[in-house]
Amino acid sequence: MTPQSIGIVAVGAYAPPGIVTNADLEKIVDTSDEWIRTRTGISRRHVAVPGTATSELALPAARLALERAGLAPEELDVIVVATCTPDMPLPSTACFVQYGLGATHAAAFDISAACTGFIYALNIITPALKVGLFRNALVIGADTLTPFTDFSDRSTCVLFGDGAGAAVLRAVPEGHGILSSYMRADGSGSEMLTIPGGGSRYPASAETIAAHQHYIHMAGNEVFKFAVRAVEDAIATALERAGLTTADVNVVIPHQANIRIIEAVQKRVNIPEERWVINIQEYSNTSAATIPIALNEAFEQERIHDGDIVLLVGFGGGLTWGATVMRW
Ligand code: UT7
Repeated sequence: MTPQSIGIVAVGAYAPPGIVTNADLEKIVDTSDEWIRTRTGISRRHVAVPGTATSELALPAARLALERAGLAPEELDVIVVATCTPDMPLPSTACFVQYGLGATHAAAFDISAACTGFIYALNIITPALKVGLFRNALVIGADTLTPFTDFSDRSTCVLFGDGAGAAVLRAVPEGHGILSSYMRADGSGSEMLTIPGGGSRYPASAETIAAHQHYIHMAGNEVFKFAVRAVEDAIATALERAGLTTADVNVVIPHQANIRIIEAVQKRVNIPEERWVINIQEYSNTSAATIPIALNEAFEQERIHDGDIVLLVGFGGGLTWGATVMRW
């Protein structure tokens, strides 16, 4: 049996309606709208009401993608949720999504690759569909970063928001769909971006809470430098594997962590600015959700056309990085 072409046939996204502006943050920490906009590109972020679980953001995104695909939840064979902010350590967030959707025939599991999670999930599930292990897959990137944000630390609290994006994958006509993928990791940089407390290394205790270990800790400068190199590497390698060049790319969907990271990469790779989808100003960094939210936005704004080459590229904690090249 010749492996079939597999692609994204529908997307959906959801961001909670609550908004925190830069002006709101000026009232909490020593920062300014000007600093946040010029140093990061962020103007606002969508924030879930306290107590919202990541699966509750994933569900509306998933329902929209399924509706657009014309697929009933019972027709799903597998659900993968990429997240670094799961509902609970046990069970997987994907199982909450599976139950919430009523996807009664689906396998469900999470992937942990921080902000690169959606790319990892797409790249891992595609070959499983190609060989017929599954027919219909739902891949979700969802993160609720607000409860893990230390609002006494100005160097991180201005950067993050909450949201989810989803994609339905299945067989597509020959020549379309996912053409190449690339994934890497470098655990020597694991300390650069962590939520150290609450796991097996530093189990939850009064001490870990007092030390703010349940919040995101980041060496921002180090991550920034890594990110520029990683994105450049992922773009070059994934395109080479697809037998394409930057000139062939119609739409780039990069992870939205900092507008200056995107601009630095734009200077290094030869893809015109107007081909990049950027919405960090509205959503900030929603980790695994930034890429599917931006992909959904590009779809809704009709920026992606049949036959276009679409390049997804991400990086994040781990350290991890990767890319996916597809013909829409
Ligand atoms: O998804 C992947 C995860 N995250 C990332 O990709 C983030 C990557 N890193 C970054 O985006 C940037 O490094 C940051 C936005 C986090 C920081 O920007 P930066 O240009 O690297 O600033 P910096 O850390 O070098 O700090 C410059 C100055 C410092 O003051 P001094 O020491 O020069 O007086 C900081 O204390 O800016 C200060 N600063 C702030 N000032 C106002 C740091 N955060 C703030 C703030 N408001 N929110």
